[in-house]
Amino acid sequence: MSTNLIILAAGKGTRMKSDMPKVLHAVAGAPLLVHAMKAGMALEPSKMIIVAGHGAEDVAAAAQDYQPAAEIVLQTEQNGTGHAVLCAKDALAQATGDTLVLYGDTPFISAETLENMQAARARYDVVVLGFEAADPARYGRLVMDGPRLQRIVEFKDASDEERTITFCNSGVILCSNKNMFELLSQVTNDNASGEYYLTDIIGLAHSAGLSATAVACAEAETMGVNSRADLAAAEAAFQARARAEALENGVTLTAPETVFFAHDTYIGADTIIEPNVVFGPDVTIENGAHIRAFSHIEGAHVSRGAVVGPYARLRPGAELSENVHVGNFVEIKNATLAEGAKANHLSYIGDATVGPETNIGAGTITCNYDGVFKHHTTIGARAFIGSNTMLVAPVTVGNEAMTATGAVVNKNVPDGAMAIARTPQENKPEVAYRLFDKLRAKKARQQDEGK
Ligand code: UD1
Ligand code: MG
Repeated sequence: MSTNLIILAAGKGTRMKSDMPKVLHAVAGAPLLVHAMKAGMALEPSKMIIVAGHGAEDVAAAAQDYQPAAEIVLQTEQNGTGHAVLCAKDALAQATGDTLVLYGDTPFISAETLENMQAARARYDVVVLGFEAADPARYGRLVMDGPRLQRIVEFKDASDEERTITFCNSGVILCSNKNMFELLSQVTNDNASGEYYLTDIIGLAHSAGLSATAVACAEAETMGVNSRADLAAAEAAFQARARAEALENGVTLTAPETVFFAHDTYIGADTIIEPNVVFGPDVTIENGAHIRAFSHIEGAHVSRGAVVGPYARLRPGAELSENVHVGNFVEIKNATLAEGAKANHLSYIGDATVGPETNIGAGTITCNYDGVFKHHTTIGARAFIGSNTMLVAPVTVGNEAMTATGAVVNKNVPDGAMAIARTPQENKPEVAYRLFDKLRAKKARQQDEGK
């Protein structure tokens, strides 16, 4: 059966104290909203509707950047979760199958949990995701009768007895698209908050002779973000899980608690990651690579047997082939290093193609930017770039070519040629002795004068 997805993301998130809508704050390099969308993708939704309100344009841009097919509907006034879902009614007027509601500020619902809910739908008309709360606080309470869910009562509206219930509502709910909107059309705002509660559809379903149940998941999955402290806690939870998964997948982490992953980091088995390594989005590290301490890597692909760092920086578009070595204080951006190429010390390689087995000497810079445009540097196979070479792009250095130390290369270097581009050295006999004598005499005079 097809499933439609509605993600509620209209709230302001006042407690974030931010100009940015809450769902755009990032965990592991991706907005909270994208985590929720990713979770929902597990059910291969036929439609994905984002209900946006505060900062709707930015929310739409972030949603469609991740999923261009995502549809945005507006909720201009936040009149409650039920009202928010109703805003998607027109967008889903022709939809068939089921509809699942997720919250944009709840990033960690697992695929397995959503599949469990889907399985429960075979036996119940409405399925709610619940959890045993360590501290039920102000969550909505699930009023059960055996396996059947009778209704959900919001904390504000609950009796003392109902408040003792610890099985709580996560907010995630699944039922047929038809039932969702038929039941919602009957919801009123006659409650302690004066809001239209999505949760009221359970009681209404019960009265209409429909069946409902609650599927339980771990409380950690339902973690929502309301404040910067929650955001930090969500980041910590994500990192703890990512580190455990990396170890489980055969990656060596010398000091796991100091390595930070992005939401989409892929690390192959037998890779070694030393302490204090940070991964930004869009990184793939193939099996058996070695990432040394204090490296920062984003938007990069690192192949088998490559060695990166210590203190290396790989920026978007860095493509390292097998057995490439990138050493300390080397920055690589939008550049391909072919098999066995080495840039071991203090270099900037940007907008460049480097051939196999080529050696880039210490202090080499690709001067890629003229203040307005970026230009490309091409270096062939088995070339040798002397230390402190300035490669003034656009420029090409041929196969097995060399550049002399300190060269400023602004003309192409043919295959096999040696480029020398620096002022020739001149030695002036005895000049250093005379200069030293002069300077020392000056210093002595100054000391006599008591300066
Ligand atoms: C809701 C549930 C409660 C549950 C809790 C779990 C209702 C009535 N209550 O309460 O049972 O235990 O979540 O966290 O559903 N939103 C909109 N538009 C609105 C209102 C909310 O987009 O008009 C979005 C919010 O941005 C948020 C989500 O819906 O992402 C939940 O809203 P929130 O106000 O946090 O609901 P709770 O009161 O926490
Ligand atoms: Mg809430």
